[in-house]
Order: sequence, then structure tokens, then C-alpha cells
Amino acid sequence: MKLSIIGTGYVGLVTGACLAEVGHEVVCVDNDAAKIKLLTSGGIPIYEPGLEELVKKNAAAGRLSFTTSTAEGVQKSDVIFIAVPTPPQPDGSVDSSFIEKVARDIAAALTDYKIIVDKSTVPVKTGEKVAETIKRYCPATADFEVVSNPEFRREGFAVGDLLKPDRIVIGTRSPRPIEAMKKVYAPFHAPMVVTDINSAELIKHASNSFLALKISYINAIATICEITGANVQEVAAGMGLDERIGRRFLNAGIGFGGSCFPKDLSAFIKIAEEIGYDFRLLKEVQHINAGQMDRFVKKITDTLWVLKDKKIGVLGLAFKQNTDDIRMSPAIELCQRLQKEGALLRVHDPKAMNKARAILKDVTYVEDMNTVTEGCDALVVATEWDEFKQLDLERARKSLSHPIMFDGRNLFDHAEMERLGWVYKSVGR
Ligand code: UGA
Repeated sequence: MKLSIIGTGYVGLVTGACLAEVGHEVVCVDNDAAKIKLLTSGGIPIYEPGLEELVKKNAAAGRLSFTTSTAEGVQKSDVIFIAVPTPPQPDGSVDSSFIEKVARDIAAALTDYKIIVDKSTVPVKTGEKVAETIKRYCPATADFEVVSNPEFRREGFAVGDLLKPDRIVIGTRSPRPIEAMKKVYAPFHAPMVVTDINSAELIKHASNSFLALKISYINAIATICEITGANVQEVAAGMGLDERIGRRFLNAGIGFGGSCFPKDLSAFIKIAEEIGYDFRLLKEVQHINAGQMDRFVKKITDTLWVLKDKKIGVLGLAFKQNTDDIRMSPAIELCQRLQKEGALLRVHDPKAMNKARAILKDVTYVEDMNTVTEGCDALVVATEWDEFKQLDLERARKSLSHPIMFDGRNLFDHAEMERLGWVYKSVGR
């Protein structure tokens, strides 16, 4: 099928590449001319495992192309996906201005029947507003229908999640777009949920909020574990074997971050408020998440006392493993909190250092994780990168003035670390 994706960011580019991979003809549109130039010349603007190969392969096969023109994207496709950002406003509500602008741009380019699919995470009832807007701005001869099709891929695993989705949600009750969407997604062989547009939009906010709730729940349990001497990983393992609960998203740490959970929680709380429901449960999820960071910083100051002029090595800057994304990264927040206390930081991240340089100043960026501790008083682990487990612990221990590690992601075995001579402080153990 002929498809276009408006917005070539973490969602749009991976979606475009995966839809091309299964045989569709895809035009990716972005108003950032530099990004389109980079993509056209074979470059990739973001790090996402497996993405570069997929983009190059499908571009070479002629199934994936790039343009800055929304009109070109609209004209060359039957189904148009909107995948532009929906950032938070200062009060937590969603800034829908990018979606609204794209709706007008699509409207201006419509000539015949098209299916417009919203993939961006949006407040419930946005689809209805998109349809109204397009109707207002399109020529009288144009015809279209709007569908909600939320995205559930995780950054760092996006290619795999998209090629093997656990479900496809199609929000429309109209037969023609249902048939088209089933054709778009047929090659993925995934269960499909066909529902009305408002329910589809809610599925996204309800899912992300539930996952964030799960993380805050285990973080609350971690606090109880610390007070009682229990071990949160063993509690999570015991809970997780219950199929109704599941072990995933029960990793305690310094809290969740990224461009999705914090934003979606605030948005959902605001959406509920606007319709007269006080979503206190989700407010508590936010509260617990903020408390996780406070408690971790306190753990560091309780041990090291005054941080002024203390040298601290930090492993991890990305908001989680397998990504270069530092948006709302707990690791960056942690660095900034330590800097505020006067600590001098040596930091390393396998992929996120370039992006971090723009916002995290006055730190030493270290290319080799095994030298991050040199001349330091302590080591902090802030992101759950798998490769950190391969840290040369003996070398790190010897290079520190005192072998103290604050592990905000529970990457190492507690007993083993103590056996190796570390003062090892983790979360909920
Ligand atoms: C999240 C959802 O998991 C995706 O399903 C959704 O499509 C996406 O948001 C989105 O709305 O676009 P993502 O933000 O990429 O995906 O990352 P997650 O893997 O969910 O991790 C989010 C944060 O939670 C990270 O900071 C991570 O370190 C933290 N986390 C995750 C924990 O602290 N503990 C866990 O057990 C799991």
C-alpha cells in the first residue's frame, strides 16, 4: 500500500521503516530540512538498535523516501499517519498545536479520499477535533476519514516491538478505514483490537499510566524492603510468577523518565480533571516517582556527607538502556542534583553523551566506562545499560579513593559486591 508518515522522530521514522520493511511504499515527511537531508543522504538522526540497517535497506529498495513537503506525502499515499510530538505544557496538559497544524496542512493538500491515522499520543477526543479541523480547511471535493492507531513500541526496542507487536489498536467504526488498516497491518500477524476512536485514544493513556503505576508500586515496595531488610528483587520475582501480575516493569530504581511516562501521566491527570474526575491514584504515582530520586540522593549524601568538591563517576545518562534519548532522563536529573550539591562529575554513557553535552555542562565526558572512576570518591549507576554489568569491578574498586558504589538500577548482586570489598548501596535491597 502507499503510505505516508508525517513526523520523522522516534515514532515516525521507526514506523515508516518497519512499514516499508513489510512491503509498503512509504514517504516520511518532516519539516526539519536538515533531518530530511541527512536521511536522504543515508544518515540517521537518532540511535535505535536495528534502525539504520532497516532505513538503508528499504531506501535502497525504493520503498522508503523522505520529503519536507506534507502535500507530496499526502498526494503519494492512501493512508496518512500523523506522528508528530505532543509535548507537555507548563500545566501538564498536552500541547496539540503540532497535530492541529498537520491537520490543516493535510486538509490543504486533500483532493480525493484519504485515510488519516493518528499515531501520536493524544488526549481522548483529539481524533474528533482532527476530523473537524480537516473538514473546515479541506476543499469541498475532498473526502477523508480519521482513525486512531496508538503506538506501543518502547524506545531502544522499537524495531522489534514494531515488527512483532503484541497488539494493533484500530480506532474507528467505519468499514472502509477498518479494511485499509487491516491491510496495512496484515503482514505483522498481530492480534487486532477494533474499537471506537475515543476508546483507542484512551487505551494508550490508560496503558502507559498503568505501566508507570506498576513501576511506582515496586518502588514503594522497595522502600518497605529497605526499612525491613527484605530484598525487592526477590519480592518482585515472587510476585511476578503470578501470571496476573507478571515480572516485567517490576524493576525498582531511581524512577521512570523519558518522553512518554512523565508526560502521559500529567496529561491523563489533566484530562481527567477537565472532565471532573480527580485521578488521585495517578498523582500518587508521580509523587512516589519523585520521592525515589530524593531518597537516592539522600542515600549518597548520608554516606558521603558533604558533596562539595567530591569527585563522583556516573555510569548512564540516557533515560534507559539501548537509547541515546535523554529527554526527562532520571540520570541527567541525578547528575544535576549532585552538581547542585557541589560534586564534580565524570560521566559515561554508551550512546547518549553527544546529546547530553548540550544540556549537561561542566562535567568530564569519559569514552571508556572502565576509566570513569579514575580519581573519584564514589561511583553511581544511573541507567540500566546491560554493558555496565561488564564493568571491570576490580579496576574500578582500585581506582576509587574508597570503593563505594550507589547502584540506582540494581545491576549487581548485593552479596557478591560485598564479597568483592565494595560498600554497595542499591535500591530496595
Ligand atoms: C513507554 C512504553 O513502555 C511503551 O509501550 C510506549 O509505546 C511508549 O512509552 C510511548 O508512549 O511512546 P519508553 O518510554 O520507550 O516506552 O520506555 P520504557 O521501557 O517504558 O521505560 C520508561 C522508564 O521507566 C525508563 O526510565 C525506565 O528506566 C523506567 N523503568 C522501566 C523502571 O524504572 N522500571 C521498570 O521495571 C521498567
